[in-house]
Amino acid sequence: MNRTLSFILLTACIGLLAGEASAQNNVIRPKEVWPDTDGNHIQAHGGGIIRIGKKYYWYGEQRRQGLDPEYRYVSCYSSKDLVNWKFMGDALKMKDPDSIGRTWVLERPKVFYNAKTRKYVMYMHLDGPRGGGSGYLYARVGVAVSDKPTGPFEYIRSFRPLGHESRDIGQFIDDDGTAYLIFEDRPNGFHIARLSEDYLDVEKDMCLLKAPIEGGAIVHYKGLYYVLGSALTGWSPNPNKYATAKSLEGPWSEFRDVAPPETRTYGSQSTMLLKVAGRKDTTVIFMGDVWKPKTQWDSRYLWMPVEIGDGRLWLPEPKPWTINVKTGEHKVVGKNPL
Ligand code: GAL
Repeated sequence: MNRTLSFILLTACIGLLAGEASAQNNVIRPKEVWPDTDGNHIQAHGGGIIRIGKKYYWYGEQRRQGLDPEYRYVSCYSSKDLVNWKFMGDALKMKDPDSIGRTWVLERPKVFYNAKTRKYVMYMHLDGPRGGGSGYLYARVGVAVSDKPTGPFEYIRSFRPLGHESRDIGQFIDDDGTAYLIFEDRPNGFHIARLSEDYLDVEKDMCLLKAPIEGGAIVHYKGLYYVLGSALTGWSPNPNKYATAKSLEGPWSEFRDVAPPETRTYGSQSTMLLKVAGRKDTTVIFMGDVWKPKTQWDSRYLWMPVEIGDGRLWLPEPKPWTINVKTGEHKVVGKNPL
């Protein structure tokens, strides 16, 4: 073989190996660009995840560049391993449904699957000032429904859950399958409320935590409920806190820091706690958003397995890590350069 030919073959092999490596990734890198299977940074901000059979679906705010400014979009991604995500399209694309005004917002979409009605039910935070300008005065949830996980979701209506103001929302599905909406009600506090049987309404307040907490998330772990959220500082990160209780009705413990307060939750804000119960272990993942308010399409994700048990919840310093969804095990694999 002459030299030029062997050089060409060698370069081709390296190229193939590199292609292979980028196509199948198994490392989650907190705060870095997270490419989907098409190579585009994932756009699922303020998101939520459900598992249907062996597939996970991740829904969130679609904030890619070049969107039609009249619409708001909710993206949908699917994955079998929580690392490699395929963009399934925009599950919801909607014009201002309630005539809120030009600057209306649709944030923190969350999807629940109702096994009885076989419908996918999306909750979203709908807000904006009536007639333009800025501000979050509308303070309602919107509901949309689809027959398929990937949409298209059809908008049904908006309302104030149990008559209360509602801004940031979170979702929680208990081990017995019961579905709850977490919502921030500025004048009163933080609600954990059960959905109606068809999931189209919010039926029962389980409790009202009189704490200024948003970005709400809950996990049920070894007989204890852990509720987690951020303080009310808009897009700027703050020290997120958690409390525990034996039942959703409470009584809840005091709120405590989930990470060293000076790191301001390592620059992130909570959106969900995801429990991955496998054959050998259970990993609970803190899912947070690292917001970039001026370049929202570049906002990042801080996902990290937490230390949890006996009433303590702790978010360790973010580092690259891997997860095996079948065994439920995770492993930290390196240092985070960020
Ligand atoms: C945050 C909230 C975000 C978004 C932002 C706007 O507090 O968690 O979802 O509403 O404020 O400033």
